[in-house]
Amino acid sequence: MQRIVILISGRGSNMQAIVDQCASQAWPAQVVAVVANRADAAGLAYAAQRGIATAVVAHRAWPARAEFDAELARVIDGFAPDWLVLAGFMRILGPAFVQHYAGRLLNIHPSLLPAFPGLNTHARALAAGCQAVGATVHFVTAELDHGPIVVQSVVPVQAGDDPERLSERVLATEHVIYPLALRWAVTGRLALDQGRVRQLDGQSQLLIQA
Ligand code: GAR
Repeated sequence: MQRIVILISGRGSNMQAIVDQCASQAWPAQVVAVVANRADAAGLAYAAQRGIATAVVAHRAWPARAEFDAELARVIDGFAPDWLVLAGFMRILGPAFVQHYAGRLLNIHPSLLPAFPGLNTHARALAAGCQAVGATVHFVTAELDHGPIVVQSVVPVQAGDDPERLSERVLATEHVIYPLALRWAVTGRLALDQGRVRQLDGQSQLLIQA
C-alpha cells in the first residue's frame, strides 16, 4: 500500500477527487493524511469525515520560511508518505523541502505550464487572448509551478468567458487529471526520461475538453 499525504490551503476539491477515486477504483494506495497551512481550510472537515488524519501547520506561527518548511516536513514525515501531493497548497516551498521529497512530490496548477505560473492564471490567459487554457500536473522542482509534466488538460475559451467561468471548466478537468496522475504514480506507471515524464502503458498524457 502506497501512502499518500495531501497538502491543502482551502476548499480541497482536488483532494476530495483523489480520496474518492483512490477508494472507488481500489488503488493500491491510501490517503493517510491531509495537512493544511491554515486551520480554516474547508477541506479539513471532509478529510476528517472520511476518517483521514488531519494536521495544521499554521504558516503564521513560523514567520521564517525555512522554519515553517522544516516543521511542515516533520509533521508530514510522521505519516511516512510515498507520495506528497500539493492540492491548492498556496505557500511557496523552499529548495530544501523540495529536495527532501524529490521524485515523490506532485503539484497541480491551473494553466498550461510553462505559461502563467503564479496567481490569477485565468484572468492573465484571457487578457493575453489565449484561445485555450488548461491545467497541468507536474513533479515539483525548486522553481515555482515548474517541473516535469505528468499530464495536462486543454479547455477551449468560449465567447463571453470570464475568469470564474473558465476556472469552473478547468477545475472539472483538474478533478480528472490529478487522480489519473496519482493512479499512475502509485501503480508505478510513470518514468522520468531525461527530465521528461513517460506514461509506461502509453496512455495519453493529454486530456482535451471539447
Ligand atoms: C486549483 O484550481 C489548483 O489548480 C490551484 O488552486 C485550486 C485549488 O482548488 N492551485 C494553484 O494555483 C497552485 N499554484 P481546490 O482547493 O478546490 O483543490
